[in-house]
Amino acid sequence: MPARILLQLDNDSHPSSFDSVVAIDAGVDQLLRYGNVQTDSIIPLVHGAMFTRGGDDLRSTAIFIGGSNVKQAEALMKAAKNAFFGPVRVSMMLDANGCNTTAAAAVVAASRHLNLSKARAIVLGGTGPVGQRVAQLLAHDGASVTLTSRSLDRGEQACEEIRSKLQQDSRIVAVSSETLQSDSAVLQDQEIIIACGAAGVELLSEQSLVALPNLCVAIDLNAVPPAGLGGIGVTDKAKPIGAAVGYGAIGVGGLKMKTHRAAIASLYESNDRLLDAVEIYEIAKTIG
Ligand SMILES: NC(=O)c1ccc[n+]([C@@H]2O[C@H](COP(=O)([O-])OP(=O)(O)OC[C@H]3O[C@@H](n4cnc5c(N)ncnc54)[C@H](OP(=O)(O)O)[C@@H]3O)[C@@H](O)[C@H]2O)c1
Repeated sequence: MPARILLQLDNDSHPSSFDSVVAIDAGVDQLLRYGNVQTDSIIPLVHGAMFTRGGDDLRSTAIFIGGSNVKQAEALMKAAKNAFFGPVRVSMMLDANGCNTTAAAAVVAASRHLNLSKARAIVLGGTGPVGQRVAQLLAHDGASVTLTSRSLDRGEQACEEIRSKLQQDSRIVAVSSETLQSDSAVLQDQEIIIACGAAGVELLSEQSLVALPNLCVAIDLNAVPPAGLGGIGVTDKAKPIGAAVGYGAIGVGGLKMKTHRAAIASLYESNDRLLDAVEIYEIAKTIG
């Protein structure tokens, strides 16, 4: 088998060192790193990857799309897909800003504690790249999902985007964070809380969290103090909090890292893998 080559295409000027280290730890032999990649500059890079090796050897070249601008990374993925010619293609993965691996690990962590197909879940700060994916994956597995935002319009727009990726009967609604504070009934009902707000912002106090009667698992993905969920430590991993268990960002980080490495390794199993949120979630499930 020829050397495993990974083209790391990043929309930041310096391609992420984090993604580079993970790629090498996942067994990549040659890492080709490109920064400032735009939709109009990606095509020749993709053609260079797909026209150089033929037949079965094509699966030894793959593409990773990253960068801090997740929307732009999604546009890069779409442009790269459009550059393929039928079976003349290479496998590709999107994990800009860690959005897919982080969301996948959080939802798998929640699934250790209850059956998602019957669960009621709330995603706090759900309009960001991680929150949207967490909500999508929960709903994908049948949970009833409430997504919060400081703006009901933004929340509804995020739900609309997520619905377009899901089956017709998926249950996902938006509420404004303000409503959440005044109407505790929405929170009282929840069995899963996953906080996906911006770094360093508390979205729910410890007092409110421990008072929730139906809560089974609380996950906070923010690693920057103060915690997104009061009372959850960044390294907590299934640590009791009230009658529930809590996970902090580092508490789900081990699974996130394993998922990232396994996803990169899986790119070389064939030349036609496309790994986005759901596919990466399926990989995370196999790790548990
Ligand atoms: N552990 C890991 O490996 C890892 C990897 C990636 C991300 N993360 C963490 O996961 C979390 C989510 O990441 P992300 O990139 O999706 O976050 P983000 O886009 O920065 O923020 C998510 C949402 O938080 C809300 N928000 C922003 N400022 C706020 C404020 N001052 N008060 C209340 N809400 C505010 C916004 O929603 P509205 O404006 O709609 O209210 C925003 O859409 C972050 O804490 C990030 O650090 C962890």
